[in-house]
Amino acid sequence: MHVSLAGINHRTAPVEVREKAAISPDGLPAHLHLLRRHLQHGIILSTCNRTEVYITGSHIGDLEQACVDFLCKSMGLTESTAPYLYVMSDRVAIEHLFDVSCGLDSMVIGEYEVLGQVGQALAEAEKSGTINLPLRHVFESAISTGRRARNETGISRNPLSISSIAVNKALDIVNDIGGCKIVIIGAGEAGRLALRVASSRGAADIAVVSRTLERAVRITDTCGGRPVGPDMLAAELRDTDIVIACAASPHPVLRRGQVSEAISARPQLPLIIIDIALPRNVEPDVGGIDNVHLYNIDDLNELADNHRQEREAEVAAVKGIIAEEMEMLMRWWQAYSARPVIKSLMGRAEKIRAAQYHNSMKKMASLSEEDKLHVDLLTRSIVDKILRDPILYLKEGGSAERIDIINRLFGLNDGKDL
Ligand SMILES: NC(=O)c1ccc[n+]([C@@H]2O[C@H](COP(=O)([O-])OP(=O)(O)OC[C@H]3O[C@@H](n4cnc5c(N)ncnc54)[C@H](OP(=O)(O)O)[C@@H]3O)[C@@H](O)[C@H]2O)c1
Repeated sequence: MHVSLAGINHRTAPVEVREKAAISPDGLPAHLHLLRRHLQHGIILSTCNRTEVYITGSHIGDLEQACVDFLCKSMGLTESTAPYLYVMSDRVAIEHLFDVSCGLDSMVIGEYEVLGQVGQALAEAEKSGTINLPLRHVFESAISTGRRARNETGISRNPLSISSIAVNKALDIVNDIGGCKIVIIGAGEAGRLALRVASSRGAADIAVVSRTLERAVRITDTCGGRPVGPDMLAAELRDTDIVIACAASPHPVLRRGQVSEAISARPQLPLIIIDIALPRNVEPDVGGIDNVHLYNIDDLNELADNHRQEREAEVAAVKGIIAEEMEMLMRWWQAYSARPVIKSLMGRAEKIRAAQYHNSMKKMASLSEEDKLHVDLLTRSIVDKILRDPILYLKEGGSAERIDIINRLFGLNDGKDL
């Protein structure tokens, strides 16, 4: 049994490529349905830092190609995006997932959100019926490793998020935080985090715009700010200093025309827009409007890198936990991989034993039923004793090498009986 992954992430691809492969939570079931039709088992993990597909199978070369093909076809990536893709298998792929769930592979190291997203990816695959035992076990182990990393090290102490980095970057540019007006577009997790930081830094007026007003009401009730419906966005922009765009929309929610109109009503007042959504919420040519300063998620990389350097000691501690958990998981994986060989070894031995027993019984027809039972039990126990050591050898480490040795020793692939 092998596991492979193909992916695209914030280190290998810029935002304009990553956004093509991004899958919203609403769109995930349709992609998993497609996966089930073509590959049967797999998990799709799509976060603002990455989109990855994990699948299992028995031939590693086919598996890696199938992963890449699915990622490209399902997400509409073309050949030009091939240089941005990465492919990993087995131990390397599993260790990568552990890094992801511990927050080591994120732009903001130690971020909490990714652990929940790994859990959601597993839950969606369960719901769509694309899960199998090895994938479930690998993802569950990654989640518990992610929890251990956060409980036993300081990797997520005083946690940062992309939202907080974005708000802090914008507020560091303006002169008067107390007199500053902020519009947050999106009332999900990213919006809530942005609102909390903006409130705690003392921004005077914070408007939260959500497609559904109730959602904005829910977060402003607990974290401050004003809820605003999408129809009021244009009016709000006329005297806004900062926009943090973080709606989970597959298309832009802030277009050049809207921003130009707002700017023409306040030509002297600069507008800072930080778009942390993936796909981006703001049309890129908005950045060309006079007095508009547009940043996207990749523009926050430098600040995230500083944060990474501060956490280097914690990274080493998390790596120690990952190494321990990997050891346990790889033992399980090898024992699991050995199961088909053990089954075929036992099946073959039993077939031979039963045939020999029945042949002998025909020649010893005078034996009583009780004696026949004794012979039956005797032959079974001889077979069990002979198989005990090879089975143990496989269970202790069903590596490809051990499986091959047993296959060859017992001629399991030659189609003949022992
Ligand atoms: N979570 C994070 O920490 C994080 C970090 C960095 C970047 N991001 C990015 O930020 C964005 C939001 O992430 P999230 O975790 O906050 O997701 P989320 O909880 O699903 O976001 C929900 C928000 O997006 C709005 N929305 C959804 N579909 C929309 C559409 N078609 N048009 C307009 N608005 C729509 C929702 O409006 P309704 O009120 O109608 O539901 C709601 O306000 C994503 O692009 C994500 O990649 C998130």
